[in-house]
Amino acid sequence: MNINTNTHIKEEKGVESCALPSYVRLENISLTLSEKSILKDVSFSLPATGISSLIGPSGAGKSSLLRCLTNLYDNWQGTISVAGINTRSWHGGDDALRRHVGLIAQKPAVFPASIYDNVIFGLSRKERKQNQSSRVERCLTQAALWDEVQDRLHDPANTLSVGQQQRLCLARALALEPKVLLLDEPTASLDPRSKQLIEASLHDLAKDMPILCVTHDLEQAQRLQGQVIFMCDGKVIEIAAANDFFEHPERLETREFLRWSVCDCD
Ligand SMILES: Nc1ncnc2c1ncn2[C@@H]1O[C@H](COP(=O)(O)OP(=O)(O)OP(=O)(O)O)[C@@H](O)[C@H]1O
Ligand SMILES: [Mg+2]
Repeated sequence: MNINTNTHIKEEKGVESCALPSYVRLENISLTLSEKSILKDVSFSLPATGISSLIGPSGAGKSSLLRCLTNLYDNWQGTISVAGINTRSWHGGDDALRRHVGLIAQKPAVFPASIYDNVIFGLSRKERKQNQSSRVERCLTQAALWDEVQDRLHDPANTLSVGQQQRLCLARALALEPKVLLLDEPTASLDPRSKQLIEASLHDLAKDMPILCVTHDLEQAQRLQGQVIFMCDGKVIEIAAANDFFEHPERLETREFLRWSVCDCD
């Protein structure tokens, strides 16, 4: 892989070298929107299991990158492969890719339907006609929402709070049994208890799949463990295992960001 020379990756300390084989690989991803360069030669990989945190200041390009990973933006340059398959030539097209790679967007978007129907929304017509109660309970439990909605599954989903709607979107993604999970600030609107439950669920899910979690909460990135990918201004600045990243950041930009929450990487 042609890693951007400005990116610092601690191969020797356990990001790539001791990790499992990579399941998702991004090589030299660039994206331009409205003639503005949004992503610049982004390269990294996600191991087959475990959580990776994607951090960086607002406007760094984190959400845009997740959109490229699911072809919601399709004008990106570079190569993305999942399970060794180029996402540009995914069997079954973008819909099949999005079943395999679940994305929970930054802004929750529930459908004008009941809570129950939202969870099963992405299933096939045949599956939706079957009784999906156990799947709905499992996914809502994994999304730390079951206790709050089990008595109102047939209420409209838009009667839920923003934080609950975000968890409902997670349950909806989980119902499709994705093999990779991309989460864009999944706990930004949650109280500490719900945040704790979601993190526990993510740790559990990550035993079997790679998870990439965008977060502004640096303590959360530490708790999630795994690798930390620090982006700024469309570039990857540093990647390291969480302990190394927070205890021994190599780059000046990283140290400044950890200390002051600002990055001057131009
Ligand atoms: N459709 C678009 N056209 C032009 N510029 C865009 C478009 N969408 C996003 N951008 C710009 O791309 C940059 C990266 O945006 P993005 O949403 O990916 O950042 P982010 O790292 O997710 O930020 P935040 O932490 O605030 O969510 C920003 O400068 C944004 O203004
Ligand atoms: Mg964002």
